[in-house]
Amino acid sequence: MSSNGTYVMPEAAIAELESVVAKIEARPGEFVSMAECREAQERLRTKDVVASLPEGLTEEDLVGILKLAMLTECATESYAAVFDRGGKQHDAAWLTHFNRRVWVPDELTHFLPFKGMLLDLGFSDAELEREMRQTREARYDHCCGITPVELTTYGMLQEFLTDNWHGLIANLLRQASPEGARLATNVKKRETLHYIWYRELTAVQVAANPELVPSVAGTVLSFEMPGAVLAPQYQKRALVWMPHMGVDFKRIAREFVRHFYDILGSTRRSGEFLLEIAARRGYNIGPVSPRTLMTWMNRLGGAGYSVIGEAILERVNLPVPEGVRHFYNAPYRRVRGALRGFVAKKLDLRVITGETSPEAAPAGA
Ligand SMILES: [Fe+2]
Ligand SMILES: [Fe+2]
Repeated sequence: MSSNGTYVMPEAAIAELESVVAKIEARPGEFVSMAECREAQERLRTKDVVASLPEGLTEEDLVGILKLAMLTECATESYAAVFDRGGKQHDAAWLTHFNRRVWVPDELTHFLPFKGMLLDLGFSDAELEREMRQTREARYDHCCGITPVELTTYGMLQEFLTDNWHGLIANLLRQASPEGARLATNVKKRETLHYIWYRELTAVQVAANPELVPSVAGTVLSFEMPGAVLAPQYQKRALVWMPHMGVDFKRIAREFVRHFYDILGSTRRSGEFLLEIAARRGYNIGPVSPRTLMTWMNRLGGAGYSVIGEAILERVNLPVPEGVRHFYNAPYRRVRGALRGFVAKKLDLRVITGETSPEAAPAGA
């Protein structure tokens, strides 16, 4: 048993986390190749992208979009230091190993395609290097807690949103700069792997110690993209750019729910998690406050939380697990189904994704 403050992890779970990290380390997949980025440089045709930008986006916006990606990606060492600190403080050697042996070497080349595109747009190497140096040297205040479960939750959210951001960039480039789109997609594929890895590491910890759920919820609530600290001049524009870049907030909300459902492992825990977030964000679910709903649910012995969890799945059009449906007898299932439908209709997606836009999602990059 490893215990440090509020973070407690049984020995068996530590062994499992170590084995997950060892498996990832053994087969990390193909990193973004520096040679491939250099080789593709003269075929980028990024200037052609300017003429093909969707309505509402200017060349200056394109520069900001690419700089946000480049600067966020270049500061790997700033984030790595926070993960090192959390791993050390909580005796989580598995986290330190993952951070230093897999994540850092992988991330180190991610800024390259975006720097290449900016060079192609006419920026000088010296200018871009100076901007990256300033970003790397800037003070980085981490938004969230640094117990291992908070760090892996943060990692999952950050990688998931970065994955989305690189996907939006690839879409923007695809027509006029297929080479640029290909390079951005190469980085995106790495971020997909990263959030899947962080999701698994979080799920193992939560399964071993469900008392960590409030730490997961707390991380969701205080989360902000690193760009908000390191490149605020661009990050604050991300939400203005996103609709023009074709972002699908509903899909993001659906994915977000799916990842947290996977981490939490049951509709009941997902329901508790959602009510905790709704209560702390001050949103009502239907006609009642989350705190009132929580009191009712606790009186029902917690079974009601499953209804909320199922309603969340239904709200974002994800299938409700069969096992849950078969567990109850027919009349109770009907009442439960009606209640679930009611909550799903009343459920504001902002409860799930934050309050940044009407059907909102947090900013990307
Ligand atoms: Fe990255
Ligand atoms: Fe990443």
